[in-house]
Amino acid sequence: MKARVFSGIQPTGNPHIGNYLGALKSWAKVQYDYESIYGIVDLHAITLYQNPTELRAKIEELAGVLLAIGIDPKHSALIVQSAVPAHTELSWMLTCVTPVGWLERMTQYKAKSATQETVGDGLLQYPVLMAADILLYQAAIVPVGDDQSQHLELTRDIAQRFNSLYGETFRVPATHLPTVGARVMGLDEPDKKMSKSAKGAGHAVGILEPPDQIRKKIMRATTDSQPAVNIEAPGAGVENLLGIFQAFTEWSNEQMKSHFAGMRYGDLKKQVAEAVISHLEPIQKRYREITAEPGYIAGVLREGAERVSPWANDTVNKVKRAMGIYT
Ligand code: TYM
Repeated sequence: MKARVFSGIQPTGNPHIGNYLGALKSWAKVQYDYESIYGIVDLHAITLYQNPTELRAKIEELAGVLLAIGIDPKHSALIVQSAVPAHTELSWMLTCVTPVGWLERMTQYKAKSATQETVGDGLLQYPVLMAADILLYQAAIVPVGDDQSQHLELTRDIAQRFNSLYGETFRVPATHLPTVGARVMGLDEPDKKMSKSAKGAGHAVGILEPPDQIRKKIMRATTDSQPAVNIEAPGAGVENLLGIFQAFTEWSNEQMKSHFAGMRYGDLKKQVAEAVISHLEPIQKRYREITAEPGYIAGVLREGAERVSPWANDTVNKVKRAMGIYT
């Protein structure tokens, strides 16, 4: 049996090139070597208030994007998290072995809770549900961007704690980060990670964004007061642009150095924009084709849930037996 991979993405905001380079590109790449399960994590999304009508629409839209970037339903199960109730069932059992202190230390919890008037308990439990997503499938690897590293460490801690309390039950998963693009920064604020929810118009490049808009945004990206690329010590904005180019083209460090050293910022930006656009255009074309076929996405999501449910239920039963829960 092939080892399994699991990863997830929240159906909030607009999926952007940070999501693509940090995670989605790896999802498409590893799907042929692993039994792959990719989740649209709607139950994570509601840890912060979401407009219900919008959330519903975003789920199918995101499924379309994931298929368009190359997730192949013949090789991968694409699921909506809430369609497989075992995620929440396992999450409760893991909550019971997770010290509150571990959760209060999570940097994403601290950052998100600081923006809320009242903090929902779901926000604190968020990483436990994430651990459940992964451990439910006994995943060997989890391809994510760097901002999820701390949650992945916590997942391993929870798995190990459970195994030591109740006997060997979970496979302890490894984090899979891309070598370039693990942390794409905002174009307008290169000291902040590119985010789906950031408000700035020039902040993120959406996977489905029209080429002329992408070009404009990249041409306006924040750089610094130097005129040309200092390849040994680029400023944060230039380093981000170079990283985006390298992640899309997969050029070697040597190629990058010899091509971009001393290049004027205007030319650098033009080349970055064209690299991004030429990569995204075929994805956007596929997205239009996929979404034009009525019922296709719903069918893929239904089949995905049907395929993985027996695996999920196996783990839940194993956990119940281990804990002495009446089955
Ligand atoms: P989410 O929806 O915020 O992001 C989806 C994926 O995109 C990566 N990412 C980035 N990578 C590079 N640069 C960026 N600026 C950038 N922004 C986002 C994220 O690291 C992620 O891999 N908690 C998760 C969803 C989740 C999950 C899971 C992930 C739920 N259950 C189980 C893995 C395994 C999240 O909010 O991702």
